[in-house]
Amino acid sequence: MTSGPLIRPRRLRTSPAMRLLAAETRLHAADLVLPMFIREGIDQPAPISSMPGVVQHSLESVRAAVTEAAELGIGGVMLFGIPMVKDAVGSGATDENGILNAAARIVASEVGDALVVQTDLCLDEFTDHGHCGVLDARGSVDNDATLLRYNDMAIAQAGSGSQLLGLSGMMDGQVASVRDALDSAGFTNTALLGYAAKYASAFYGPFRDAVDSSLQGDRRTYQLDPANRREGLREIMLDIEEGADIVMVKPAMSYLDVLADASAASEVPVWAYQVSGEYAMIEAAAANGWIDRERAIEESVLSIRRAGADVVLTYWATELARSLR
Ligand code: PBG
Repeated sequence: MTSGPLIRPRRLRTSPAMRLLAAETRLHAADLVLPMFIREGIDQPAPISSMPGVVQHSLESVRAAVTEAAELGIGGVMLFGIPMVKDAVGSGATDENGILNAAARIVASEVGDALVVQTDLCLDEFTDHGHCGVLDARGSVDNDATLLRYNDMAIAQAGSGSQLLGLSGMMDGQVASVRDALDSAGFTNTALLGYAAKYASAFYGPFRDAVDSSLQGDRRTYQLDPANRREGLREIMLDIEEGADIVMVKPAMSYLDVLADASAASEVPVWAYQVSGEYAMIEAAAANGWIDRERAIEESVLSIRRAGADVVLTYWATELARSLR
C-alpha cells in the first residue's frame, strides 16, 4: 500500500504522443478561413502598416495568394474590396464591375471549386462617411433603407460567383431580407453567414487602416455593446430564425463566453473571427521579443476552436495551414 494521490491526471501528459492522443481540440486547415483585401487601382500588393505580413492585394496578385490558400487546403477565403471612389450610398458595392465583385469573379474562377469563396456584405468600405449603411436626413444609419442596398449587393455578389455572403453590417432583419432577395433572383444556393454577434470593438482598429476607412465616430448604434452577453445570444438566435446558414461571433478572443453560449445553443455551424487587433497585438508583442510568436498564434486559434468555433477566420490561415502540414 503506497501513499499518494489515487487519481493522477498527469498520466495523460507524460509524453508528446500521449498528449496528442488526449487532445480534445485539433487545428486543421479546412477549419480556417483567410480574410483578404483587394484594392482597386494598384498593380503591386501594398503592405498594411498596422498588420505586418498582411497586404492589400491587386486584382492580379490575389490570384497567386488564393491558389496557395487552396493548395494548402484552407476552407475558404473572405474577400474585402477597397474602391477608389466612395459615395454616400456606396455605389461601388452594387456595381458588377466594382472592386469586390470583380475580385469575386477572379477568385471564383481560380479556386471556386477548391475552397469556398466568400464576400463581405457591408457598405462601410464603399461609403464616403464610412458607415455600414446609408444615412437618413439627420445623419443616423437608416436600417430599412440599408436593407434595400444589401439586397442589391447580395445579388451582385452572388452573380459574381461568391458562394457565401458575410453579412457584417448588424442591421436588424438583414438576414431575412437578403435571403428573400436572393431567392427571388434565383440564387437559392448562395449561403449566408450572419455576423450575428458582432461587437462595437476597439480591436477592429488595424482593419480600418487595411480598408482605408473614412469612418468618423463609431458604430455603437448598430454593433453590440461589449458589456452584453445575453444580447449576443439573442442576436445569434435571431439570425438563425431569419435563415442564416452559419452564424458568427466577432471579435473572438475577448468574446469566448458569447462563443461558448452560441455553440451550445446553435443548430447551425458557429464561426468566430479573430480580428485585426487580435492579430496586431500578437505580432507586435512577438516583434518585441515578448512572446513566442508561433506558440501564441497556435494557442490563440486553438482557444477559439475550444470555446466552440467550428471555423476560425484568421489572418494567419495560410501560415497555420503550412505549419499544420
Ligand atoms: C465591416 C467589417 C469590419 C471588420 C470586418 N467587417 C470592420 C468594422 O465593423 O468596423 C473588422 C475585421 C477586423 O478587424 O479584422 N465591413
